[in-house]
Amino acid sequence: MFQKVYFPKENYTSGIRHCLYQQLRRESHAANANFDFDKILSFKIPKESNNFHVHAVWLRHHCQCQKCYNHRTHQRVHIPSHLSQISSVKKFTVKNKQCLIDWNDDHTSVFNIDWLRANAPKSLAGLSASTLPILEENQGFHQQLSYNYKKCFESVGSILNDPLEIAIHFDEFMKVGNDGVTHLLSNVLRYGYGIVNQCPPDFETTKKVILKVSHPQNTIYGDFSEWTSNLAHADTAYTSDVVHMHTDTSYFTEPIGLQIFHCLQHNGSGGLNSLVDGFQIAKQIARENQESYELLSTLRIPSQYVDDGKHHFHSNDVTFAHDSSSNQIQKIRYNPHDVAVLKDLPFEHVEKFYKSLVNLSDLLESAPQTIKLSPGLVLFLDNWRVLHGRTAYTGFRHLCGAYISRSDWLSRTRVLGLLNDF
Ligand SMILES: [Fe+2]
Ligand SMILES: [Zn+2]
Repeated sequence: MFQKVYFPKENYTSGIRHCLYQQLRRESHAANANFDFDKILSFKIPKESNNFHVHAVWLRHHCQCQKCYNHRTHQRVHIPSHLSQISSVKKFTVKNKQCLIDWNDDHTSVFNIDWLRANAPKSLAGLSASTLPILEENQGFHQQLSYNYKKCFESVGSILNDPLEIAIHFDEFMKVGNDGVTHLLSNVLRYGYGIVNQCPPDFETTKKVILKVSHPQNTIYGDFSEWTSNLAHADTAYTSDVVHMHTDTSYFTEPIGLQIFHCLQHNGSGGLNSLVDGFQIAKQIARENQESYELLSTLRIPSQYVDDGKHHFHSNDVTFAHDSSSNQIQKIRYNPHDVAVLKDLPFEHVEKFYKSLVNLSDLLESAPQTIKLSPGLVLFLDNWRVLHGRTAYTGFRHLCGAYISRSDWLSRTRVLGLLNDF
């Protein structure tokens, strides 16, 4: 099935070769096989000899209108899974230094041509090696990497059917000695999370639980913090809206290690927390599509946190990171809301990259374990492995918690004899 394609008007676009919807749909191995990731808009810019090419999916991902981009939090609204439904172009026109695109979901995007020229993916042929360290020899991924997939996941434990299976009672946890912490952290190492249950639902007691593990990491969110839907920080986590699957602080040079949540009060409905073992998802991708796994292990995705006039965090790293000596998977860094402009994405890899990203997003959103953070349940998550999200909620919801750095919680596991990693 071919879509009807409209071409920009004559005056600006006499050189338009074609609004190039590549006419033969290629066989797709991604979950969204009905979407054409390879559609490219091609148009002429005055006084330039070559046509300008840009993928439709990249454009839709980068729409910065009020509906697609939250200009208060500087976060994207759409997750990659949405792109497969909303990235078909009905019409595009180029006029007065602007590219206007009408999409199949009755949405219109406007891009400044100069901005596009500065930020849209460029061909590897036109880039110097120094700007593409991962692909510096332009050899393609298979020659750059050869993961031993079995080894990547050697230490990854199985999934629990019920997160509460591993909970430890507050009274047991707080007993003098290290048995409680040993129980908790051995579960975090094995499953990616641990739970202390029946904790009195107040902030001060929760602090004591956290301090029994380690001291908190002080960040812009504080050391220990309480939050509700008051938008105290420029992040969707501080609203009652749905929060899609993500890891925290993807924009830090080193994302936080453990995340601790305790819901002290919720008078309303919704607000279920979702958990996904990112290592299991990575393992599935490695098994089903090696090229996709390698793309997500080599192409860097820039992440940002911008709070105007206060903070501007930025990092540029891969989604699946591996320990350099053991080659085992070590970290998943993923927050679709915090993705900055993908301007270093090589043009040649755009199609496969978006297939991989949408597939990852589909897998993450499709089968999370859900857990209701009711008062008394203190959840410890390994933020380098487990992704979390939350359904929308109504009413008043009050949480408290903290972060513990990766260095600190792993130090504790070594002292307790749980980890022997060197
Ligand atoms: Fe979060
Ligand atoms: Zn938009």
